[in-house]
Amino acid sequence: TRTFGILTSGGDCPGLNAAIRGVTKAAYWRYGMSIIGISHGYRGLIEGDARLLHPRDFDGILTRGGTILGTSREKPFKPDPGEKDSEAGSRKVEAIIENYHKLHLDCLVVLGGNGTHKTAHLLQQAGLNVIGLPKTIDNDIWGTDVTFGFHSAVDIATEAIDRLHSTAHAHNRVMVIEVMGHKAGWLALYAGIAGGGDIILIPEIPYDLAHIVHHLQTRQQRGKEFSIVVVAEGALSREESLMSKEERKKRRKKNRFPTKGYEVAHLIQEATGMETRVTVLGYLQRGGTPSPYDRLLATRFGTAAAELLYRGDYGKMVALRDGEVVAIPLGEVAEKLKTVPPDHPLIDTARAVGTCFGDGV
Ligand code: F6P
Repeated sequence: TRTFGILTSGGDCPGLNAAIRGVTKAAYWRYGMSIIGISHGYRGLIEGDARLLHPRDFDGILTRGGTILGTSREKPFKPDPGEKDSEAGSRKVEAIIENYHKLHLDCLVVLGGNGTHKTAHLLQQAGLNVIGLPKTIDNDIWGTDVTFGFHSAVDIATEAIDRLHSTAHAHNRVMVIEVMGHKAGWLALYAGIAGGGDIILIPEIPYDLAHIVHHLQTRQQRGKEFSIVVVAEGALSREESLMSKEERKKRRKKNRFPTKGYEVAHLIQEATGMETRVTVLGYLQRGGTPSPYDRLLATRFGTAAAELLYRGDYGKMVALRDGEVVAIPLGEVAEKLKTVPPDHPLIDTARAVGTCFGDGV
């Protein structure tokens, strides 16, 4: 029998267990393979923290949030922060390669985001067989139209925006809601449109406070007594967008606001005199049961990955392209980021219903 190891790496998201179940059930029952579950991402593989999985381990987990395997943000090719030994990175990689062989793995299946796939590609180049499954609420993985976890987060954020509407209306307030997304604004864009946000700020479209203020005042003049502002945590003002990464870091350190949402809310209240409140949605977006869409997508990705294992078609990431599940080389995915193109049709859709992106268009 062939044996593969499976791990989840990076920030968790709804649908991880559904995907684990998809791979393991198909591999075990349909293809007769053995499965080794590796704890807490690449860290478990470095430390040899792994065990044989039985059907009782992956039965009944479809609807569960989190990951039965645990996860970590371990990046084996990078030395740990504060680690003096420049060899630490390669020692960790050596340990991974050693444990891969000790466990008699034919392939390693990794469920993760961009960092995970970058590592997956490097391990593939180091001689291991690797298959990847794209997960993240950020939807920022190159090569796939959508990642699992994303639509659950969209549902959660949309419900939050709906709920903020009624309280915003009751008090005639501006409600700022901050959603996740450091580099990509997919979640803010989708939930912002679905929830009817009046202003949506995303990292890909730098904003000017003046345009935000103008939009809020225009709404007020039209008799709208409240407004909803959806902010991606990584949204950038025009000024910030012109800074280098280092300058931005420095600025953020000096900034007295804990997150972007607080900063935007403060500036709005100061500039307009409108009573403004902020809600940071945070980890609620990552927790809990996956939506039906994500259960379906994770199951499709999982069973497709099992088929790749069966065929010995390694070095690939499963992906969704125009409704079809396909496999693309890890090398095509690594080092890339899928951000929102400023000419994305949804941006125009949002503008057509009067949504402002803070850029004055
Ligand atoms: O998984 C990606 C992400 O959700 C980002 O949008 C967010 O900024 C980040 O994870 C925070 O994760 P953590 O605090 O777990 O490192």
